[in-house]
Amino acid sequence: MSSDGFADVAGVVRRRSGIVLTDDKAYLLETRLGPVLQKFGLASIGALGAKLRQRPDEQLERAVVEALTTHESSFFRDGKPFEHLAKLLPRMLAPGRTGPLRIWSAACSTGQEPYSIAMLVADALAGRPGPKVEILATDISGDVIGRAKQGVYTQFEVQRGLPIRSLVKYFKQDGAKWRINPDLAAMVRFEERNLLTDLSSLGKFDAIFCRNVLIYFDAPTKTRVLDSLAKRLNPDGVLYLGGAETVLGLTDRLVPVSGERGAYSVAEQRAAA
Ligand SMILES: C[S@@+](CC[C@H](N)C(=O)[O-])C[C@H]1O[C@@H](n2cnc3c(N)ncnc32)[C@H](O)[C@@H]1O
Repeated sequence: MSSDGFADVAGVVRRRSGIVLTDDKAYLLETRLGPVLQKFGLASIGALGAKLRQRPDEQLERAVVEALTTHESSFFRDGKPFEHLAKLLPRMLAPGRTGPLRIWSAACSTGQEPYSIAMLVADALAGRPGPKVEILATDISGDVIGRAKQGVYTQFEVQRGLPIRSLVKYFKQDGAKWRINPDLAAMVRFEERNLLTDLSSLGKFDAIFCRNVLIYFDAPTKTRVLDSLAKRLNPDGVLYLGGAETVLGLTDRLVPVSGERGAYSVAEQRAAA
């Protein structure tokens, strides 16, 4: 494999998504870019690199980023953030509330995260009428957004983290797969969205899940994304990050929620500003 090809591919992925492909990820190119090479009639990674260098090609660049993003996810992944949200929901859904409850899954992959949130909300409401709830789920990848919208999961996927009680309550068996119930699916709105772009049009949220995506970014990009997420939080809102992610040393706009691993709130002086 030509090292030029790697540098060109990594450059495109970093510019478009923020994801840093270090040299030890070179093996990913070989395994994941095969279908892209075939689709665009390119003989090698070196040829792909040369084409990317020649002139901007939106379709090709998109395909390269799609192929090289990691979409690993599971229902109620890591447990803790969902337990914390479940504790907050009775207050968030209290009858006196004015305005909708808004929750954002900001790198939602194939949908397990936003659907887990929707199950918690449905459980908390337990059929009683409540305030309007908006769950927005976004990801840079059009492919995973398409899959997430279908709400269809394999036996393996539902076995990872989904309690059997929730499987029975919120899914129907469809051949060898499981399909999420339409009522629950209707609670989530999916949209393709890049975290590196201006997010102000999304409005403010009571809770944001942005988990297991910052790990792929360099420090300046993490800071940029965290600052931009902080601006999307209501003053008493909560940001949930992945187990290997933190705000510490990256921004002073967010502070850890005491005693809750992975949960952050807007720093007071910033909330007031
Ligand atoms: C490993 S998955 C995490 C999914 C889920 N949040 C979880 O924790 O299970 C990371 C997701 O981040 C998305 N992603 C990567 N770069 C992104 C960006 N710049 N903007 C939005 N999403 C991005 C990928 O497409 C992928 O679906």
